[in-house]
Parts: sequence; structure tokens; C-alpha cells
Amino acid sequence: MSDKLIIFDTTMRDGEQSPGASMTREEKLRIARQLERMRVDVIEAGFPAASNGDFEAVRAIANSARESTIAGLCRANDRDISRGIEALKGARSWRIHTFIATSALHMEKKLRMKPEDVLEQARLAVRFARKGAPEVEFSPEDGSRSDPDFLCRVIEAVIAEGACTINIPDTVGYAVPQQFGEFVRTLRERVPNSDKAIWSVHCHNDLGMAVANSLSAVVIGGARQIECTVNGLGERAGNTSLEEIVMAVRTRADFFNLHTDIDATHIVPTSRMVSQITGFVVQPNKAVVGANAFAHASGIHQDGVLKSRDTYEIMRAEDVGWTANKIVLGKLSGRNALKQRLKELGIELESEDAFNKAFLRFKELADKKSEIFDEDLHSLVSEDTVMSYGENWRLLRMSQSSGTDQRPQAKLVLSEAGVERQAESNGDGPVDAVFKAIESLAGSGADLLLYSVNAVTQGTESQGEVTVRLSRAGRIVNGVGADTDIVVASAKAYLSALNKLHSKIERINPQV
Ligand code: KIV
Ligand code: ZN
Repeated sequence: MSDKLIIFDTTMRDGEQSPGASMTREEKLRIARQLERMRVDVIEAGFPAASNGDFEAVRAIANSARESTIAGLCRANDRDISRGIEALKGARSWRIHTFIATSALHMEKKLRMKPEDVLEQARLAVRFARKGAPEVEFSPEDGSRSDPDFLCRVIEAVIAEGACTINIPDTVGYAVPQQFGEFVRTLRERVPNSDKAIWSVHCHNDLGMAVANSLSAVVIGGARQIECTVNGLGERAGNTSLEEIVMAVRTRADFFNLHTDIDATHIVPTSRMVSQITGFVVQPNKAVVGANAFAHASGIHQDGVLKSRDTYEIMRAEDVGWTANKIVLGKLSGRNALKQRLKELGIELESEDAFNKAFLRFKELADKKSEIFDEDLHSLVSEDTVMSYGENWRLLRMSQSSGTDQRPQAKLVLSEAGVERQAESNGDGPVDAVFKAIESLAGSGADLLLYSVNAVTQGTESQGEVTVRLSRAGRIVNGVGADTDIVVASAKAYLSALNKLHSKIERINPQV
């Protein structure tokens, strides 16, 4: 019997720390349901002390979770931990995840604390957490750059206080696989009570080695939990990618002799959902979930695959949830058909009113597009949850013209807080004209950091999904919009980003 590798997903906490990736309560609930469907063991739902919004999102996930353990991140102080306990206590199974930095650099420059005080604070935090929580996980932040002697003392102390998972972070993605694996092994060998805890790792991808480092900590170091995110989302270059870990362990079970409980057929739908909600597009050559991950372009490869798939395929696309686009609904489909299909996709809308709105949008889409795919439904529902930011700006109507001999021109009718307003502008291209027209009314002063368009499904009649990233006064937001007309999708995405900027959700980053 192989050992079980615990999959701890932190898409909604570390993933949410990516610029512009912050999610609403509704968006987080959708992701949490999908992670449960995929049978993730532990879901880190957020950082409850970050803001009221984060607290409510963690509480909603805790109250609705059925199978997974729900975790919340807390700095090592009583206030954060009490807030975490309050948010999580409704869950069937839950844990407090508390952390404090232990590297000389972080203690001196960031915390401005002496090592002995850090050790004491870690000990007291775990003691306090253990009084109110059934499980406590402890992370020494910047662990991979910490002095092993000091780290051993901290870890021994927190295990003695009742921490049952010890998570070693490579916070800045500095580790290399062999060394990191040996580092974790050394800690396990030297901490006298190490067998009282499950060992875990949390790696960042700054040098592109997060997955390799995590697996090395498992093979060499004996870790049995990996912290990871869908699509590798996360601070800076991201975290260990969940899909790569799960499929590496499964495809090379001969080498790892481990298993996870993950239902891999949900991997691709989950990847798409996270990408649609956060506006972080998956690169085409990304392992497992990239659009080209199973595409064989060269003639030799195609010939081989046609003769025998295993010549060039080590995994089967359908095993990770790639399906040929299936027409699921059309213009004549009614309310029941939509309800049924949303249910099959695991999409639960909050209320009858939310369903009515989704149905209206579905009808509008079916008028423009004869075949509606699952991907269209996901994107339709994503647009609805985006509205939970509040709709200060809404697109009512628009037209634009462009051509080889004409300067592109756009005319828009928008609603600002319910009041109809008109704008027009020309621009270097149709999208530029639309954005300028919107800004002539909004005057947001935001900088456009990113604009990208992706097809939701195959074929030219596909909806285009546009991501717009705006930045203003240090705050970064992503807006997403979809439509069969990519210029309309661009206007929707820009307005959705403006609505997020307008919503003034203030949250603090746990590590800053
Ligand atoms: O990267 C890191 O160190 C973290 C910890 C808070 C676990 O995210
Ligand atoms: Zn992290």
C-alpha cells in the first residue's frame, strides 16, 4: 500500500495574493465547491484577519464545506488567531494555520525581533490556537533560509504545544531540489518530537523549481503534505502547481510510491474556473492544463500517436478532464435544461433571482451563438459573480466602426449608478477607442497594466474572454468580460475592473 500525499490547496489564500487576483465571497464559494468536488484534502480559504470580506468568505466556506478540512491563515498573534477561530468554527473539520518568520534576515529586518522572542511568540501562538481549534499547523516563514539549529528549536517547541502539521516554506523560491529535500530530512531527523507531526512544504516558483522542490521534500525529506495552487497561481512567480503534483505522483507512481485522493477528471474544469474568476490566463504550454499540453503538432508525433497513443503520451487528456467541446444547450433550451446542466457542472447559484439573471444572460447569448458549450456557461456565471462587486458602471449599448481607411470610432451608452450617460471617442484601434470613451466619463486615472483576449471555445463563433488589469494608487485589479464580439467583451472587462476599483475592498497582505 502506497503512502497518501495530502493535498493542501492555497489558491484562495496565497493565490489570492497575486496582483489583482482578489476574489469575492461568491467567487470563493464557487472555487471551494469545485475543490471539494476534486477531493482536495485541505482548502486554505483565506486570511480571516485581512478584511471583513475575507472573514465572511472564510466563514461561508467553512459553513458550507462537506468533506475537506478548511484552514485559515493567521499571523502568530492572539487577535488574528481569534478571528480565524471565529471564521472557521462552523466547519465540520478545520484547522488554524499560523506562521512567523524565522530567518535571520526576516527577524532582523522585517519583524525587528530577537530570535528568542520569535521562538516565544511561536510557542504562545500555537498554545493559544490549540485551546480553540481542533488542529493547528505551524509555518516558519522563510524556512528554507533559516538557520537549521534555530529552526529545530522552534519546531520542537510548537510540536510540544500541539501543532500537528509542520510546514516548511520556501517563501522566496530560493531552494534547489536536492538541497531542500535534504534540509527537510535533517529537520525531521534532528527534531526530537518530529514523529508527532505531519511534515509539509510550501514552495514558491521564483526559479521555476517549486514543483521539483516540493517533490524532493517528499522523496528525500519524508514530507507527506504539499501546499499548492490551481494553475500555480500565487505571489510573484506563483506557487507549486496542484495539477503538476497530482499528475506527477500518479503518472510516476512506480517512482514515488504515493497516491493522492484527487479526482483528476476535475483538474481542467477547475483550472478554467480559477482562470476565469481571477483573470489569470493559463499559458498554452503549461503542463497538464495548457491548451497545447496534449496537442501533437509535428507529423512524426501525430503519426506515432495515431499508431499507438503511448508513443508520445504519458497521460490521457480525458483523465485530467479535457473533453471535446460538447454542444450542451441552444436557443430552444428552457429554464429546466439550464438548471439541470448547471447542476451537472456543480454550479450552485445562490438564489432563484441569481438563476433568473443567469437565464436571461443565457438567452441573450443563445441569440448570438447557436451552440452553447460548458465553457460558455462557466464564463456566463463568472460574469454574474463579478457583479457582486457592485455595478457602479454598466454597459447598456455600444457601437464602433473601424476599417483600413478610417480612424476607429466608438460610441457607448453606460449606466453610472443607475444614470444613463453617453460617451464617444476615436482611438488607434477599436479597443483603444472604447477604453478612451469609457475614461472620458470615468476619469479613473488608472493605468492599464494588461489587456488579453482568449477564445472560450474553439471556432470563430466562440466568445472572446478579455482580461483587463488596472492599477491605481498601488491597488491592482483584474476585470474579466466575455462576448461573441471581442470589442464588447473588452468594454465589459474594462468596466468590471473599474467596478472593482470603485468597490474599495481594502485587505492587508499577511506577509507585508
Ligand atoms: O510563502 C510563505 O512563506 C507563506 C507562508 C505564510 C506559509 O505563504
Ligand atoms: Zn507563500
